[in-house]
Amino acid sequence: MLDNKRIRIAMQKSGRLSDDSRELLSRCGIKINLQQQRLIAFAENMPIDILRVRDDDIPGLVMDGVVDLGIIGENVLEEELLTRQAQGENAGYTTLRRLDFGGCRLSLAMPADAGYTGPECLDNKRIATSYPHLLKRYFDSKNLSFKPCMLNGSVEVAPRAGLADAICDLVSTGATLEANGLREVDVIYRSKAVLIQREGEMPEEKQYLIDKLLTRIQGVIKARE
Ligand code: PRP
Ligand code: ZN
Ligand code: MG
Repeated sequence: MLDNKRIRIAMQKSGRLSDDSRELLSRCGIKINLQQQRLIAFAENMPIDILRVRDDDIPGLVMDGVVDLGIIGENVLEEELLTRQAQGENAGYTTLRRLDFGGCRLSLAMPADAGYTGPECLDNKRIATSYPHLLKRYFDSKNLSFKPCMLNGSVEVAPRAGLADAICDLVSTGATLEANGLREVDVIYRSKAVLIQREGEMPEEKQYLIDKLLTRIQGVIKARE
């Protein structure tokens, strides 16, 4: 059975947040050996287990109470929240702290030679994205609509492949857009990594350790400012 005495933290296995997440935990004094390609790693010096998964799975793991803490981008978190709310599913969690890494923006992008005068010119157009709810919220706020083309990856090839007129995807350095002949035309959401905690009862010793961890995180971030 699962050892309920240990804190379980979900972090991204490989991607934009993984190095910074690992570094943050190690600066907090958690000694983990993440060398092996294993899903779960056990801290050597604290009752903490690290679960290394796809970033997209982290909000759900926290909302379902499968893990105690998660380090995740607000973009993925907010999209999962809107998805669950739309389906009437439980979407509870608590944000413990906004972190100082993982900065990116969710943006609309179009072929570099396409004219853009504002979101109105995308009214009723087809837009490829992995973030349909965040995109819909933005279009609703402008009283506009769009036809979704839901893709979980390779979103940036959709216009070239004739699947969509525009895309709505994450932009960090802008290299992916540039490599695909796309131009960022509008920012619809700005995101950073956050530390979140599941809802519900937490054994006293575990909450004590979580609070201690949070104090250390504050210290690490303060020192980097
Ligand atoms: C995002 C996005 C692009 C890339 C953009 O993916 O989907 O692929 O980052 O970054 P750039 O502007 O620096 O080129 P993400 O890192 O979220 O990976 P994932 O889709 O595999 O979760
Ligand atoms: Zn992802
Ligand atoms: Mg991607």
